[in-house]
Amino acid sequence: MTEASAQLGWERLWREQGCDLDLEQPRPEVVELLPRLRAEGRSRVLDLGCGLGRHLLTLAAEGFQAYGSDISPAAVAMCRRRLEETGLPGEVVHADMRALPFGRDAFDAVIAWNVVYHATLEDLLRAVEGVRESLRDGGYFLATFISVNDSSYASALEGLASGEVERLEPDTFVWAGDVRTDKALPHHYTTEQELRGRILRGFRILSLRENRRDWPEFEREPRFSAHWAVLARKEPRAAQAGEAEHVKGKTATGPQTWPENTTPTKSR
Ligand SMILES: C[S@@+](CC[C@H](N)C(=O)[O-])C[C@H]1O[C@@H](n2cnc3c(N)ncnc32)[C@H](O)[C@@H]1O
Repeated sequence: MTEASAQLGWERLWREQGCDLDLEQPRPEVVELLPRLRAEGRSRVLDLGCGLGRHLLTLAAEGFQAYGSDISPAAVAMCRRRLEETGLPGEVVHADMRALPFGRDAFDAVIAWNVVYHATLEDLLRAVEGVRESLRDGGYFLATFISVNDSSYASALEGLASGEVERLEPDTFVWAGDVRTDKALPHHYTTEQELRGRILRGFRILSLRENRRDWPEFEREPRFSAHWAVLARKEPRAAQAGEAEHVKGKTATGPQTWPENTTPTKSR
């Protein structure tokens, strides 16, 4: 994937619609992480694939050293403008997640909400490894990954038959002619097993759950959204005692659904 093709989906969307869109509320998972970071004295946080900046601005407003990065120049410009308008401190760079420019041990936490799965598996793995390198020991990684249970996975399989969709590799699809959404970018769909066994190697998973919700009118077709939300920690040495993983064993096919704005139950 070249940078030009990586920009296909979001750069156009942000350029055409970004200025008109109200900033969405920050995700509760992001807000909930902040007291933990504060309590541990962890202050440098990257919002990777910051988009229009809802998490970046929250971080800055909450007194963290806020950094943002995105492959879309329109998104970067918008975030810089919003920081300037609000007078909040923060730094935003134009960067591809596959080649993060921050160096080793740069951050105490990296947030990548709805970002890293816009890629082939190889590129996704490269991005996650880059995150790991840029984190200090014990640093947090809060991220989402699109699930094989998302209804667009089934649509992709249907699109294969009609020729609208190309399968680049197992579970990675691209809607090459799409000009309405971000689907001209590859999307890699994941299972819980792949997350635990491959993608998050080198991290200790603190929580892993599947956020599901109905999106009746998304992209002009009935849609069921399913994304894995993961909080993990870079812990290269012995795992810390007493920090139990919660929602352990929940499978991709599990029947339970959570409303978009709820918090997972912690079992300790
Ligand atoms: C769904 S938006 C999410 C924005 C933001 N994280 C949020 O939650 O509001 C996905 C973002 O990922 C960015 N993105 C996609 N591919 C990328 C890449 N290869 N490198 C960096 N950013 C990328 C897009 O430009 C877009 O801003």
